[in-house]
Amino acid sequence: MNRLSLEANVRFINNIYKPCIENCKVIGGDIQNVLETLDHGKAVLDTGVKCDQYIAFYGGHHFHKLFTAFTSTNFQYTNGKNLEIIDWGCGQALATCVLIDYFVENNLNPNIVSITLIEPSQIALKRGYNFVCQMRQYKLCAGSTVQMVNKYMDDLSPNDLVSDIKNIKVHLFSNIIDVETFSLDKLHGLVLNSFQGLNRFICTSPGGDRSHRLSKFHNLFSQSCQISNLVISEEPIYKEIFYFKTRRYNHIK
Ligand SMILES: C[S@@+](CC[C@H](N)C(=O)[O-])C[C@H]1O[C@@H](n2cnc3c(N)ncnc32)[C@H](O)[C@@H]1O
Repeated sequence: MNRLSLEANVRFINNIYKPCIENCKVIGGDIQNVLETLDHGKAVLDTGVKCDQYIAFYGGHHFHKLFTAFTSTNFQYTNGKNLEIIDWGCGQALATCVLIDYFVENNLNPNIVSITLIEPSQIALKRGYNFVCQMRQYKLCAGSTVQMVNKYMDDLSPNDLVSDIKNIKVHLFSNIIDVETFSLDKLHGLVLNSFQGLNRFICTSPGGDRSHRLSKFHNLFSQSCQISNLVISEEPIYKEIFYFKTRRYNHIK
């Protein structure tokens, strides 16, 4: 029985990222075409093939950025406490899966009571829901509810978001704050209205000229809330990912 449950343990790299790479390895010289179809990761995806391609091209980057961000925050404090995860513009819920993976890797044991996945692409959201359900084999989230909110950010209302003041909230903004199709002021107001108590924000983003929205998002909260333990990093990360140009796993930036 032990052997079976060990083999069944779903981890992000082996069970989500690598299978999508295998599905996409046939992509030939038209890499640029694929990246354009995905709008360089920002598209609201409408087919399963594009969902696979998104994970194959960006899943490794996102995993390493998130893992680094999680490491820079003190998640020890969540051990044994009730946690809500809210994954904004979640796509296929990679950030939630990577966070659970991070807890497993580091033997952290919060009690995840609810997971809210917010995403306008129905197909990406459903795949995300399925990935998260696979991760629910772990005790830390076995009892959690998973709620899907199939909406664009600007269409959200407080009624879509259920939260308890006593729980710690972890908000995941993985490569979404820089997407310019929604209002940061509106999002800020919604978060203030809907999530009372202790809130932790993890925001990752492509660097360069797209980071101005990240600064704006931070400024909105620094003017309205008490912020502590702020960590900002633009350090490059060198990790192994599948690189379609060389068709191998390479250490790249
Ligand atoms: C770069 S992807 C990030 C997806 C996911 N957070 C991740 O880390 O893989 C951008 C996501 O934003 C979603 N999106 C685009 N416009 C949006 C909007 N106005 N409101 C909410 N989500 C939006 C897309 O559907 C896509 O899933």
